[in-house]
Amino acid sequence: MPASFDIKPLSGALAAEVTGLDLSVKHDEPTMEAIRKAFLEHHVLVFPDQALEPEQQIAFTTWFGAVEPHPLGSRRGVEGFPEVLVIENRPGRPGARNDEWHSDITCSERPPALSVLHALEVPWNRGDTMFCNMARAHDTLSQGMQTLLARMWALHSAESLVRRNNEPGTDALPIAVCPPPAVHPVVRTHPESGRKALFVNASFTISFEDMTRDESAPLLAWIADWSTQHHNIYRHRWQAGDVVMWDNRAVMHNAVHDYDDTDTRLMHRTTAAGDRPV
Ligand code: SIN
Repeated sequence: MPASFDIKPLSGALAAEVTGLDLSVKHDEPTMEAIRKAFLEHHVLVFPDQALEPEQQIAFTTWFGAVEPHPLGSRRGVEGFPEVLVIENRPGRPGARNDEWHSDITCSERPPALSVLHALEVPWNRGDTMFCNMARAHDTLSQGMQTLLARMWALHSAESLVRRNNEPGTDALPIAVCPPPAVHPVVRTHPESGRKALFVNASFTISFEDMTRDESAPLLAWIADWSTQHHNIYRHRWQAGDVVMWDNRAVMHNAVHDYDDTDTRLMHRTTAAGDRPV
């Protein structure tokens, strides 16, 4: 018998809340398949009231793919668990900012399929995370724009991540070498659902293939504006104990930076390995 749980959509655009399921214990395959189905439908799942030790967060994430440390060592891991990234803002030591629309680590040849973020401590009514639906952004384009973008590829570079991390004074770790950019299709097809989604973002995409950055900038900016319209967004207000998982193949996210270094915001992040985007 699969465990019983409730799923409630959280906005018209994407995301659903899953209640009645304790993620710290191992669930049977039918239960995990039901979660996967909900995840593919809603792209972002919110599990409130969880208390996960690092090994439990790894075990949950592993169900969706191999859990790996950040390929560039962007932040410290939990002691003994390098694959559990600590994202932390604390009094006197600000956290490195993530308040730009992105999906995780698209500078890599095989960006992570999904990310799981567990909130341990959050500032009162601040530090939300926004998500936008890149599959819906694709599907609502005109036929002409879909055809144009389907033929295009883009370069994704770690250069702005390296710049950010090499600024001292935050929780980010320095990165010595910036790897060459990865080249990904501008429209990718989800390996599990078959849905198409736009796949460029402000943090990593530097240009379209065979075009200059100047030539690329207007269309990249237009895609960003199109994808992040209000009706295409879910904004998550964190409570300590929340676990939120998002599909990097179908959404972008943006960590709202409306707190300062008097606030504590402490999160643990794991990622499940993904395929080369096609
Ligand atoms: C991230 O960009 O992976 C972290 C998001 C957050 O801190 O809310």
